[in-house]
Amino acid sequence: MDCIRFTLNGRVVEERSVPPTLTLLQYLRYTQGLTGTKEGCAEGDCGACTVAILDADAQGGPAWRAVNSCLVLLPMLQGKQVVSVEGIAQGGAPHPAQESLVQALGSQCGYCTPGVVMSMFEACYRKDLDQPWKLDDQMCGNLCRCTGYRPIKDATKQVAGTLPDDKFRVALKDAPRADMKLSYQAGAQRYFTPTTVEELGARLAEHPEARIVCGGTDVSLEVTKRYQELPLVISVEGVPELRRMEKLSDGTVRIGATATLSDVEAFTEMPLPPVHRMLRYFASRQIKNRGTVGGNLCNASPIGDMAPVLLSLDASVELTSRNGTRRVPLKEFFLSYRKTALQKGEFLSAVLVPPIPSDARASAYKVSKRRELDISAVAAGFLVRVDGGGLVVEARLGFGGMAATPARARQTEAALVGKPWNEQTVEEAALLLDKDFAPISDHRGSSWYRATVAKNLLRGFFVETQKDPVPALPQRPTATVQLEQV
Ligand code: FES
Ligand code: FES
Repeated sequence: MDCIRFTLNGRVVEERSVPPTLTLLQYLRYTQGLTGTKEGCAEGDCGACTVAILDADAQGGPAWRAVNSCLVLLPMLQGKQVVSVEGIAQGGAPHPAQESLVQALGSQCGYCTPGVVMSMFEACYRKDLDQPWKLDDQMCGNLCRCTGYRPIKDATKQVAGTLPDDKFRVALKDAPRADMKLSYQAGAQRYFTPTTVEELGARLAEHPEARIVCGGTDVSLEVTKRYQELPLVISVEGVPELRRMEKLSDGTVRIGATATLSDVEAFTEMPLPPVHRMLRYFASRQIKNRGTVGGNLCNASPIGDMAPVLLSLDASVELTSRNGTRRVPLKEFFLSYRKTALQKGEFLSAVLVPPIPSDARASAYKVSKRRELDISAVAAGFLVRVDGGGLVVEARLGFGGMAATPARARQTEAALVGKPWNEQTVEEAALLLDKDFAPISDHRGSSWYRATVAKNLLRGFFVETQKDPVPALPQRPTATVQLEQV
């Protein structure tokens, strides 16, 4: 059996007997005594536990990424470099992120501060923070109850993209891709990270009962909140091919299942604006740095945010096992509540999204109680094609939060096709959403609220399509249509 081995603040650490479900946060605080990293929520919501990992960007090059250490299980660090707030000062001088926060008076009680600093640390080494909303996105995963966000934002603006001339910048040039291969056991708990598709298929064939994990933003909650032991885990994170994103010769966008949501957000800005737009609202930067498109689909949550927009784009999923690969339309992937078409021994290897037709209007919406860091009450992805005579020739309306699985609104779609794309058609079709869906009431929204929001989103989409082109990404994106701009 291997040991867990990674670099922490420049020093190699090895662990042979810790439970594989030990979180990085617990390890830092209780094993290493690095108590600068704080625990607030233990579920990825507050950012107090933020640290940086040397990972990869959308092009596969090395990149520092801020992550929630409360959701990272120790084997997920195999072969990687980790930096906590204790490791960023050099030669007795604070890191530029720390100095900037001091100068901007960005800390009062200080509880959030180490996490804020580590999100700023990632910002220092990013080259793509070129618009104001991206700074908000970078920092929205760090809650602060007493300082107020203006000084924190001011401090971040000062250092974002400055690429300090230090060892962390050097690491971006020199770092080889981490070899994550791992076969680990502690007590009765086992954790495997294969590094080839073949090895992954063989492991899953051998252990079809294993829990599959990648970034852990959902599975780790079973450890931190539900105190599950997870006796057998197989990680798909170590296979480089599964993370690749590419545009195929026919224009199809192929997104590897383990591509992180941050990378998908960056990659889809041009070819798939609705996906890019949905990812802006999706989650905090730290969650998007670990969450994956495959994980979000395999989780099969009725309120998963990727499914509605991918349904509207007629995506399909590639399912792989030791016996080969098959392709399944996404609309056939969700079988029932949290049940998918994945069979034992199979894993989701890629998502394939056909090109958006030139005569199509497409967009995506998310409605939640807060704009940032929240779970959807209703999410939607819409695509409508209108011919030269103004008639709808195709409509695809994907919804989340309206049924036991993410689903298309078939009757509403049928009511749109062949009709003029105008307000009357939309009003008549919107009423059919009540036939397509009978949403439940829960703490995120009543049945009435969801049904009403769904209709309003369709109306809002129509209003947005009166603009040419459809707005891709407002600077301060909201889930509701900004009527005053029409
Ligand atoms: Fe709150 Fe980790 S402790 S995000
Ligand atoms: Fe007190 Fe942010 S400084 S919570």
